[in-house]
Amino acid sequence: MQLARRLDEVYRIGAGIGANRGGGTPEEDEACDLVAGWIEDAGLEVERDARGNVIGRLRGERPELAEVWTGSHLDSVPEGGKFDGPLGVLAGLEAVAAVGRSERTLGVVVFRDEETGCHGSRWRVEHGSLPGWYVELHIEQGPRLAYAGAPLGVVTGIVSYARRQVTFTGAAGHAGTKPMDVRDDALCKAAEYVLRVRDAASAIEGAVGTVGVLEVEAGAVNVIPGSVSLSVDVRASDAARLGRLLSELDLEPEPVVPAAPMAESVRRVLREEVERLGMPVVELPSGAGHDAGVLATAGVEAGMLFVRSLNEGVSHSPDEHSSDEDISLAVDVLTATLKRLSSPES
Ligand code: HGY
Ligand code: MN
Ligand code: MN
Repeated sequence: MQLARRLDEVYRIGAGIGANRGGGTPEEDEACDLVAGWIEDAGLEVERDARGNVIGRLRGERPELAEVWTGSHLDSVPEGGKFDGPLGVLAGLEAVAAVGRSERTLGVVVFRDEETGCHGSRWRVEHGSLPGWYVELHIEQGPRLAYAGAPLGVVTGIVSYARRQVTFTGAAGHAGTKPMDVRDDALCKAAEYVLRVRDAASAIEGAVGTVGVLEVEAGAVNVIPGSVSLSVDVRASDAARLGRLLSELDLEPEPVVPAAPMAESVRRVLREEVERLGMPVVELPSGAGHDAGVLATAGVEAGMLFVRSLNEGVSHSPDEHSSDEDISLAVDVLTATLKRLSSPES
């Protein structure tokens, strides 16, 4: 099917294992240009804003009404999966084309540079026009739908999260001549802190903590590390838990990305359309951040539809996978949802 072929074509952009289309790189640009062409071929008008976000519009019969958008992002983490981002953009394009001209203008959006902090959607919220409704289809990136035997899930909200950079200093020295009892090894201090992140997050229900980047100086096999800087990514289902985790890790309490509840007006339609197909309705929170959270926090009626992750829910990995069958069910629900939202009584 066209969607599967297009997902493959985007996935082939860039070199290396998996998806490698970092935010702001030529590979992300190439993916945006390719998809902008497909949006144009579908007969939609294409807007590219000053931050590089791409918005395809199918003008409604009543263009003065608030618009309805779907979409996601095309940038990826290093060695990412095929579906995280592109599925929402390309399925969104299929759904908008299937709905056709409606009373409200329908949009499909590519938000730039999502993985390192939703930079494209944050810029749009500050500087550009926004839709009245936004529905994002995304791979679940976790195992819960598979455990529940459900192809699709309706997202209740997006967790609160914060990212920090922490530096540990010690005394660089010769790995061979410095006695152990007089060393000040920055990497040993960092290693203890990494385990603190793991233990503190594990002790708070619904919280997670990850150290994903570690930069060691001087970074030579025979030099005692004099300085180590590491990233901390902490998340929790609510502000109180996140605040507790930040404080236990001696991290600054602000800034945090607030938890973003999804709009009941969209959740209800998604639930009804999942039910219409005779599938179990599973509602679940998102542990991953998404552009939908940025729009929801800006007051847009935002919702998310998850499609089941296979392979134990692995994501941010080339092993990320959803089946064609589940994806086609998701496109059906997304299409029906956009159709209902695009008429003014909704
Ligand atoms: O990191 C995240 O939660 C998302 O994949 N950007
Ligand atoms: Mn994503
Ligand atoms: Mn991601």
